[in-house]
Amino acid sequence: MDQAMIEFQSVTKQYPGGQPAVDGLSMSIAKGSVTVFVGPSGCGKTTSLRMINRMVEPTSGTITVDGRDVTSVPAAELRRSMGYVMQSAGLLPHRSVLDNIATVPRLNGVSKAEARKRARELLDVVGLAASLGGRYPSQLSGGQQQRVGVARALAADPPVLLMDEPFSAVDPVVRDELQQELLRLQKDLAKTIVFVTHDIDEATILGDKVAVFATGGKLAQYASPEEILRAPANQFVASFVGRDRGFRHLGFAPSDGVAIHPVPTIIRASGGYESDSSAAGGWQLVVDADKRPLGWSAPGTEIELVPGGSLFRPGDSLRRALDSALSSPSGLGVAVDADGVVLGVVRGGEVLALIEEARQVRQAAL
Ligand SMILES: Nc1ncnc2c1ncn2[C@@H]1O[C@H](COP(=O)(O)OP(=O)(O)O)[C@@H](O)[C@H]1O
Ligand SMILES: [Mg+2]
Repeated sequence: MDQAMIEFQSVTKQYPGGQPAVDGLSMSIAKGSVTVFVGPSGCGKTTSLRMINRMVEPTSGTITVDGRDVTSVPAAELRRSMGYVMQSAGLLPHRSVLDNIATVPRLNGVSKAEARKRARELLDVVGLAASLGGRYPSQLSGGQQQRVGVARALAADPPVLLMDEPFSAVDPVVRDELQQELLRLQKDLAKTIVFVTHDIDEATILGDKVAVFATGGKLAQYASPEEILRAPANQFVASFVGRDRGFRHLGFAPSDGVAIHPVPTIIRASGGYESDSSAAGGWQLVVDADKRPLGWSAPGTEIELVPGGSLFRPGDSLRRALDSALSSPSGLGVAVDADGVVLGVVRGGEVLALIEEARQVRQAAL
């Protein structure tokens, strides 16, 4: 069993009037894991998160962090002992980026010089250029502000990080970057992270475990993302995870059995195009001199670059393998190695056959 870091025991929060915001919540959050609270708006995610650091006090029940009842620790001290990141980065507008990051260490009595030194290191940790340290929050993009918010939450090196829809307000491309960055960071930091989102995709990408909340502040399912997509506990979870859950579930299926076939290529070098094969009548992959993919050349046409689809790397999921084929104009998914060099192509039909095979194996095991 993983060691528990945060435990909710029959926790209820009732505001005056109306139904409970959180209703009899019991769950155990493992140390060093990312746990995602997901669910529709108003189902008690933020309230549950805020009860961990006593920004909100429960009406009944107990929460422990590292074995200690949170009510035994003064609220202000408890709050400072955990990182907190919100949707709007919540940065102080009249303080520089460095001073914003240094806020909590300063409150903890760290000297200004020391706190700033640490803040500078953290800029690098969250992928921001050192030159941004002297700017004010309004001089940063939304994505950069969220990175500063993460750096600030990490500044006192807290064991627990609470994140409330931190990436919801940025555009999808930046959100994707921030998610990948958080996963990369977490590999080194191994914090206990509780992350709130209303987006099931974000939940399954980030979570080691996902807690699906239902309207009325009830925990509907608490399981691995793979299990939630494969076996929703009830109709509420099934409809919340949505129609594409079968496809998303492929994101957890290994692509080990996917065959990579040779592909006719055309090399584009400074002198022009040069075909490496006698591929008559088929699609040809256009690559640069280092064999990195540039696009496709359609059959029976003058060489003209048709943009390619998503790339597949051995070790990726079946979802990526299938997407590479489905998104490619040739119907062939381009497989590349870690350096981006073309290995060959995968065929959508073969990926589907593997998916069906895996389903039959699962069924036989039932
Ligand atoms: N300070 C408050 N006073 C009264 N009701 C509140 C307060 N905060 C939240 N609520 C109510 O509690 C429920 C859960 O809210 P919240 O935890 O913010 O949901 P979520 O984060 O999942 O959107 C909602 O019905 C909300 O209106
Ligand atoms: Mg909320």
